Amino acid sequence: MPGRARASASLGPVNRLTTPQGEYDLTRFPDDPRDPFRAWDAADEYLLRHLAGTDGGPADLSGTVVVSGDRWGALVTALAGHRPIQITDSFLTQEATRANLARNGIGADAVRLLSTQDAPPDRIDVLLVRVPKSLGLLEDQLHRLAPGVHAGTLVVGTGMVTEIHTSTLRLFERIIGPTRTSLAVKKARLVLCSPDPDLARTPSPWPRGYTLPDGVGAVSGRTVVNHAGVFCADRLDIGTRFFLRHLPAVRGARRVVDLGCGNGVVGTAVALAAPEAEVVFVDESYQAVASARATYRENAGQGRASGGAEFRVGDGMAGFPAGSVDLVLNNPPFHSHRGTSDATAWRMFTGSRAALRRGGELWVIGNRHLGYHVKLRRIFGGCEVVASDPKFVVLRAVRR
Ligand SMILES: C[S@@+](CC[C@H](N)C(=O)[O-])C[C@H]1O[C@@H](n2cnc3c(N)ncnc32)[C@H](O)[C@@H]1O
Repeated sequence: MPGRARASASLGPVNRLTTPQGEYDLTRFPDDPRDPFRAWDAADEYLLRHLAGTDGGPADLSGTVVVSGDRWGALVTALAGHRPIQITDSFLTQEATRANLARNGIGADAVRLLSTQDAPPDRIDVLLVRVPKSLGLLEDQLHRLAPGVHAGTLVVGTGMVTEIHTSTLRLFERIIGPTRTSLAVKKARLVLCSPDPDLARTPSPWPRGYTLPDGVGAVSGRTVVNHAGVFCADRLDIGTRFFLRHLPAVRGARRVVDLGCGNGVVGTAVALAAPEAEVVFVDESYQAVASARATYRENAGQGRASGGAEFRVGDGMAGFPAGSVDLVLNNPPFHSHRGTSDATAWRMFTGSRAALRRGGELWVIGNRHLGYHVKLRRIFGGCEVVASDPKFVVLRAVRR
């Protein structure tokens, strides 16, 4: 197995990826010495081997090379010599990519970083797709990329066998052209697709909206806008529903952060109930922040007394000055390919404490079994249960 962990106090576990293109030291983001995961997997290795031509001649990577869905920048780092364009929904991926390029002595300008919300290039000669977990995000991305694909474009997808389903292949077939899969190697598979320029181009069906049920406070009956890939893009999460029923009453010109905002339903509820509050929506997903902006505009954008709204793509509470926030509302991610949920929740809670003013509060919703109260007690010195049912608990921690 390539990439044995190399201990490094400052950088966390740096692993070495050995590919036909070269050897690269890679980490995920943020660097964490306890992070047990590598910054690539067998699907990335399979694609890089395939492009190098170990089972045929090397692929022609001339022209514009687009890499969609690279998880931690391993693909674009190994392909940096072809000056690829990386398209990702994740701010954490972009940070990891920048760090990994620098770590391997590759100039930042070797790779162009675009988000899923940016316009993709007009012409694409090589399209490499790391299949995302969300079928909706794949659908949306293929629709957005298809106009740049031409009959000669090399299109190769990659993923673990558990990530590639018949529905995945159907999307490539329907949006790009005839598609087949490779043999599985180390539980990874390639998607080999031949562009059909005669396929009728249809626009992406995303973003989509749904109407919220009654009994969820200020947002009852309102419409939520979801870009592809966003958490609970087609229905209200039951945890969020419980949270919406137990949100704190906000009075006056408070600065409130919807941390990990997803489609922005929580922050929009505050904006509607507290017209003078300023609400800051934060997520590491570009699609999420675009959704939150759209949800807010649709429901609260006009007619608020004085409070405004701000939309930030970023990592947790990074960038908020100490003592600048009155209230943080958080439904932390609990499973993610991008990092251990535990570490993310911990970072969100410590970041919240640092950003809160004295007396400011962090409100957290979580599954009971996740034991967030233990973390909050350690970080804040205490926390109380605001509401609970057999599945969920809403916790409140005060910055003393
Ligand atoms: C459980 S979802 C909650 C979404 C929304 N607040 C709700 O309740 O419907 C967690 C959100 O945290 C975001 N997230 C994950 N890691 C993050 C990070 N490091 N910084 C900011 N947001 C993050 C995810 O993209 C996701 O939208």
